[in-house]
Amino acid sequence: MPGKTLLWDQTLFRRGELFEFDHVPEHFAHRDSQQRSLIFGVRPALQGMRPLNMLCVGPPGTGKTTAVRKAFEELCEHAPGVITAHVNCQASQTRYTIFSQIFQRLIGHAPPTSGVSFKKILDEVAKYLVGNEKILIVALDDINYLFHEKEADNVLYSLLRVHETHPGTKIGVIAILSDDSLSYVFDPKVGSIFLPEEILFPRYAWDEIKSILSDRAKLGFYPGVLSEDVLDVIVDYTSEAGDLRVGIDLLKRSALNAEERADTSISEDDVRLAYNKSRMLHLSRMIASLGSGEQAILAILAKRAEAKEQAGGKGGDTGGEKEMVEAEQTAGDLYAAFHESTGLGYTRFHAMLHKLATLRLIDAEIATEGVHGRSRRITLKYGFGDVLGAMQPRSL
Ligand SMILES: Nc1ncnc2c1ncn2[C@@H]1O[C@H](COP(=O)(O)OP(=O)(O)O)[C@@H](O)[C@H]1O
Ligand SMILES: [Mg+2]
Repeated sequence: MPGKTLLWDQTLFRRGELFEFDHVPEHFAHRDSQQRSLIFGVRPALQGMRPLNMLCVGPPGTGKTTAVRKAFEELCEHAPGVITAHVNCQASQTRYTIFSQIFQRLIGHAPPTSGVSFKKILDEVAKYLVGNEKILIVALDDINYLFHEKEADNVLYSLLRVHETHPGTKIGVIAILSDDSLSYVFDPKVGSIFLPEEILFPRYAWDEIKSILSDRAKLGFYPGVLSEDVLDVIVDYTSEAGDLRVGIDLLKRSALNAEERADTSISEDDVRLAYNKSRMLHLSRMIASLGSGEQAILAILAKRAEAKEQAGGKGGDTGGEKEMVEAEQTAGDLYAAFHESTGLGYTRFHAMLHKLATLRLIDAEIATEGVHGRSRRITLKYGFGDVLGAMQPRSL
């Protein structure tokens, strides 16, 4: 080996940072209408008016966070009188920590960690905005993490009523909801002041995924690293998961696998190997974002499948395929166990099944047999071992 310098072909990555999840892509295609709606909503702030409240809704990995970050970037360039605060509600799950984040964004340092009441923080935030004649736009990202104990209602209620106690305060809210079933209903007292413009983020189509991933690979890898055939395999996996993050993660992991083989291009095997890891990552993230009822459904399905197998299912080999078949239940059976463990009723159960199916964690097919007409067959789309493994960290 001549010297220690890395030659270009010793890494496949030209710009590795492009494969990190928090990277904001310079080129953001296929989201024009959503971008226009966001800009339309924040534009009043340019004239010193309160911006419109907005609600961005869509499954994970559909560009919601990126769209809001882009809109904020653009706005900050053109509107010196506006301050934007992007709050990650998974990291800050209470009204207190959220307002602390906002405080920090405005004043430049966190509020003292103890002995400061919520009211005091809110006062300071409002005083700062009025005193400096600034308009504040808060993005509450992944607000679904605040749906426990009505925290989302509390946060929205506090933000949107600051102007009543502190006249002159102008605050707009962009809530980002990572969900496709709008199963959460805001409290009526919040609903009457929130009134958001809804902006929908559907899953990307196969061609859109391909063009986005192809762009990312062209910028991030050296030429010749990713062939079109291998890209298509990655696009298939991504499209099946419905989450663009899966694709970006696959690009990164398969390239790392190729590097480990000391190869200058990614093979289909590199992708398949990466997929198995990435799939588990995706599964853990999905499960962590579910409510306890939905988790209960998955746990019941997985445990029953496990029990069936331990009771000695047919055949000796325990491949993932078989696990999935074993995880089959009728909706009626499943409901009985669900009701027993959660005490919740059929309407909620039905909504949760729907959500799990939309998230592609289960298949809920109408079977033709059944004495009382149609019955549904519920199947886990992951092996029970994978599901139980992904749930583990939560129950610690
Ligand atoms: N239209 C797009 N063009 C390029 N990259 C995109 C696009 N949409 C999403 N991404 C990328 O996909 C990943 C997930 O996007 P993100 O905005 O975080 O999704 P969400 O907030 O809906 O879960 C990010 O790495 C982002 O850069
Ligand atoms: Mg997001």
